Formats: sequence, C-alpha cells, structure tokens
Amino acid sequence: MQTARAHAPGKVILFGEHAVVYHQPAIAVPLAAVQARAEAIPDDLGSGLTVHAPDVNRVLRVTGDLDQSDPLYNALIYPLELALAALNAPVPDLAITIRSSIPIASGLGSGAALATALVRALALALGRPLSNSALNALIYEVEKRHHGNPSGIDNTVIVYERPVYFVRGAPPTPFTIAAPFTFVIGDTGVNSPTHLTVGDVGRLVEAEPERVTPIFAHIGAIADQARAAIEAGCPAALGPLMNENQTLLRALTVSSPELDDLCAAALRAGALGAKLSGGGRGGNMIALVAPDQAPVIAGALRDAGATAVFATTVR
Ligand code: PMV
Repeated sequence: MQTARAHAPGKVILFGEHAVVYHQPAIAVPLAAVQARAEAIPDDLGSGLTVHAPDVNRVLRVTGDLDQSDPLYNALIYPLELALAALNAPVPDLAITIRSSIPIASGLGSGAALATALVRALALALGRPLSNSALNALIYEVEKRHHGNPSGIDNTVIVYERPVYFVRGAPPTPFTIAAPFTFVIGDTGVNSPTHLTVGDVGRLVEAEPERVTPIFAHIGAIADQARAAIEAGCPAALGPLMNENQTLLRALTVSSPELDDLCAAALRAGALGAKLSGGGRGGNMIALVAPDQAPVIAGALRDAGATAVFATTVR
C-alpha cells in the first residue's frame, strides 16, 4: 500500500438540466476553480479504513456501526464500500483525508466530486487504479443513492474532466470548444437538494404530461443548438439560448425568486444570457459574459445578494 492523492473538479450544467433525466441531451463542463481533494496514507496494522473530513470536523470509519441515515455516510463511506466491493479487496489499513472547496447542495456537483476523489485515492493507494469508465459506473451508483433518479451527467463530466454532450444511457460525447467563452457563476446561498426538485418535476410530468413533455423536448432542442454554436465558434449565440432555457426551467417550477433576481441583475449589467444551473430552487446561476465585462457582472451579482461569485472560461 502507498500514499496516494487524487482530486476531482466541480461541474456546471450549461444547458439541459432536468430534461436530461428524461433522455434529452444536455451540456456540462468541468469547473476547475473548485475541487475535492483526497489524500490516502497507510495506517497502523489493524486500524482499518478511516475518512477524515476536517471541513466538517468529522472522522468516520468504514466498518463502524455508522448510522446510514447520516448524510455523511452516503457522501463519504458508501463510495468507498462500493469501491472495495468492486475491487474485491479487503478493508485496508488506510486513513483518507478529504477536503473540498465545492459548495454543497448548490448544483456544482459536490457529491460526485467527493466520491470521485475518495475512490480514486483509495484505488491508487491499493495499487489498483480504476479506468475512467469503471470509475464513472461506480460513481453513478453513488449518485443514485444521493438522489434516486440521476441522469448520470454529474458523474460523467466530473470523472472525465472534459466538456460533455450527454444523453442518458449513451456513452458520453466529448465535443470541440471552437472558441473560448466566459461565464460568471453566482450562488444564491440557498441550499436545495437535487432529489427534491427532480422528484417535483417527476410529479409534474405525471400530472401534466401533455404540457411538460414538450418542454423537455424544447430544452433538448436548445442543447443541440448550443452544441452547434459552441462547435462553430459562435459562443455569443449561447446568450439567447440560455435565456430561453431559463424560461422553460421556470415553467418546470425549478427556478426561485433568488435565482430569477440574480439572472435579472446579470442581464441588466450587460450579460449576454443567464440561467440557473443544476437542480434549481437555489444553488447557482450562470451568466454568459464578454470576458472584459466579467468583473462588472460579478459586482452586480454581489450587489443583488449572491453569496459567492466567480468567473470561469471554458476552452
Ligand atoms: O443539482 P445538480 O448539479 O446535481 O444537477 C442535477 C441535474 C439534474 O438534471 C437536475 C438531475 C440529473 O440527474 O441530471
């Protein structure tokens, strides 16, 4: 056994959240500005596998009598148990420290990134690194535990660390970013667990299939147009598509006054388009900006109440 380090980025969904659960295409990119980092260090004989999470001041043990309703069990221990089972490996004497700068329950992929960093560090420490495709399948199982009916987009973009055009059940399609583009991300500061919004959208489509199914198809068509614009090197065309996507997300009831306010503030300050990103009802929104406008729009988002703001360029 050896010391091993691993990391995983956050992610942003540019187009297609929620509709992607219903097999429409979506586009997501990794977000390197925030990361989960794990370090595995061989421990004394018989000490077992422990996870140290200094961010939340907790130490957890893989073979302990942990309360499985503890959210930290799902987030930190379940991925390691799954990995040990997949590798057919006994519980090692290993201490893994996990740290993350990815805000939780805010649409930036915190759960998938924590699990990815932990499992990568474990597999490396055991001298049995996993292929991206095996890791992706494993993290998808973890995502199911987090929110029941995940499309798989979060684990895919985070494990492969590349922009993806994603259709549920199909292998991920990497695509070319023909010209870089910049967006600003604003956090509402409102925690919103994805399983709640995904569940509500599920109930909406059951109650009103004739209204909601065409909304999904419309969102999917927007994702296809966005991919064409990105591949053609015309990122400015993404602005109106983001606004249109946001209107449809509002119709799915997953926006919120805070998200709408931040989108409006970004547009007033000159953003080319704005929408929520991820599960919605809280978490983050994104605004497409001309690169030299990023500081102005970041300032406008802060003034409108965003609790965290950062800019990122997709290349
Ligand atoms: O809240 P997040 O970042 O985990 O986004 C989930 C995206 C959804 O489309 C709402 C759900 C899914 O599994 O694709």
